[in-house]
Amino acid sequence: PIILSGKEFVNHDELSYPFEERGLQFGDGVYEVIRVYSGSYYLLNEHVDRLFRSAAAIKIALPFSKNELRELLDQLLEKNMVDMDAKVYLQVTRGSAARDHAFPADVAANFYAYAQELPRNLVAMKSGGSVISHKDLRWDWCYIKSLNLLPNVLAKQEAKESGCVEAILHKDGLVTEGSSSNAYLVRDGKVFTHPAKENILHGCVRMRVEQFCRDLDIPFVEDAFRVEDIQYADEMFISSSTAEITPVIEFDGKKIGNGVPGEVTQKLQHAYEQDAG
Ligand code: PDD
Repeated sequence: PIILSGKEFVNHDELSYPFEERGLQFGDGVYEVIRVYSGSYYLLNEHVDRLFRSAAAIKIALPFSKNELRELLDQLLEKNMVDMDAKVYLQVTRGSAARDHAFPADVAANFYAYAQELPRNLVAMKSGGSVISHKDLRWDWCYIKSLNLLPNVLAKQEAKESGCVEAILHKDGLVTEGSSSNAYLVRDGKVFTHPAKENILHGCVRMRVEQFCRDLDIPFVEDAFRVEDIQYADEMFISSSTAEITPVIEFDGKKIGNGVPGEVTQKLQHAYEQDAG
């Protein structure tokens, strides 16, 4: 594959990072995962906007404008002849310099992006998946899409070891989101989810879910639900650029509703298909 590194395109084996790199040593950077369907970006502007917000929040000066970045990302797909379903991963770190917790003077941000084929997970989206609950061990600024993912990694691994697709995180009894997705509960025809505050990632798909609900006259309630509320849920689902809208059919070993993907979830999945297709 051809990798976008800074503003250059290089072969993947030409990309190397110095040992004193702040992304590696401090997780001092931010990232995005953008979905590509049949060679076209989905929600590109939303992801680019969020990257700029994340970088500004940790005081990284990006070496390009939004327009320049969008152009580089288009070229990335062209150069790799991406015409299938894929994802693009991109990350920006504060740069390379002698190790010091404080920002080094005159450091230049490091940036790279690559595309990888990613078929849609049609089985999980049709049948739904099981999830576990997990304590949300993250910091207060989860709206920043930071490279510091250790709590997310550990939670996801526990889910995997339990045969589950996701770990649903909770803090002070309230469900915040999934380890790499936003989380929703459906009750009496209403969709409940944690408000887009600083302690969750403002998902690009979440933004669309809100719009789909508006279009379909489904109340979208930004009111965090509690872990104990899940036993009374009619439906549950998660959303992300990679999982799209995936029904959740089991929570900590107990069925949700009838244990099959619910009606509201399916309506939203249909709206997603229309939007992304
Ligand atoms: N993660 N919440 C968290 C903690 C996430 O990591 C993600 C996405 C989301 C959903 O955001 P979006 O709808 O913009 O994809 C919510 C990506 C897919 C990842 O880390 O691989």
